[in-house]
Amino acid sequence: MSITKPAKNVVDFTSTKRRKPADGILLNESAPFHVREAFKTIRTNLLFTLATKTSKTVVVASAMPNEGKSTTSVNLAMVLAQTGAQVLLMDCDLRKPSVHQFFKLPTNKGLTSILCGIDKIEDALHENVAPNLDVITAGPLSPNPSELLGSTRMSDLLAIVQKAYDYVVLDASPLNIVSDAIIVAKQTAGVLLVIRHGSSRHDQLKKAIESCEFAEVNILGVIFNDSRTVNTNFYGYGHYKYSKDSV
Ligand SMILES: Nc1ncnc2c1ncn2[C@@H]1O[C@H](COP(=O)(O)OP(=O)(O)O)[C@@H](O)[C@H]1O
Ligand SMILES: [Mg+2]
Repeated sequence: MSITKPAKNVVDFTSTKRRKPADGILLNESAPFHVREAFKTIRTNLLFTLATKTSKTVVVASAMPNEGKSTTSVNLAMVLAQTGAQVLLMDCDLRKPSVHQFFKLPTNKGLTSILCGIDKIEDALHENVAPNLDVITAGPLSPNPSELLGSTRMSDLLAIVQKAYDYVVLDASPLNIVSDAIIVAKQTAGVLLVIRHGSSRHDQLKKAIESCEFAEVNILGVIFNDSRTVNTNFYGYGHYKYSKDSV
């Protein structure tokens, strides 16, 4: 497998490949100030954390479904790309993929079809879905996601994209439901753990953290999603809340 990336910071703003967001909350200029600021804070903290790591690939994970993994990974990839860095967002939630919905991308080619050897990376890559941001969607649904994610082809793919991009953001399946996220995270700098206010439970979070510790996966930080109090004294990695009506 190989990949050829365009020269850094050279972005064709007239590209017809850029698409408008569809389903999912995608941060834009009209998003509330505190939400945009929260994502910038998350970005800053992540950049500090990654500065000491050799891998610049992160997995966005959480204990359970619907805690905001996909929303966070998409918007985190966007704010990272806004720094001028070349960023790849890859949907590694092969059971309930959703990254394609944010950018209205097709899923006939993607991670599963690359890992099966059907498609080359460059054929499945969606370039410049936003400036400096490329996306690989999950691809067609497969009957054996864990095997695919644990395959040598997946390791090879991660090695290739880590070399080609400044940052790689991986959206993942819930930690407490399947082992997919752990399998992938072992080959990265670690996980960003999303906790959702009013949804995440202490025992579920404990179990997720224990899974990471058992597998010796780094927890790079915690993101407190859907915070009900904007002025909370929360000392975590970053926190945000927004409503669909306001973006
Ligand atoms: N901070 C938030 N404010 C409002 N809605 C949110 C927020 N975070 C997530 N959502 C919504 O919750 C649902 C689940 O989010 P999603 O990112 O798909 O979770 P996951 O990937 O963990 O399953 C989606 O409809 C999403 O738009
Ligand atoms: Mg998701």
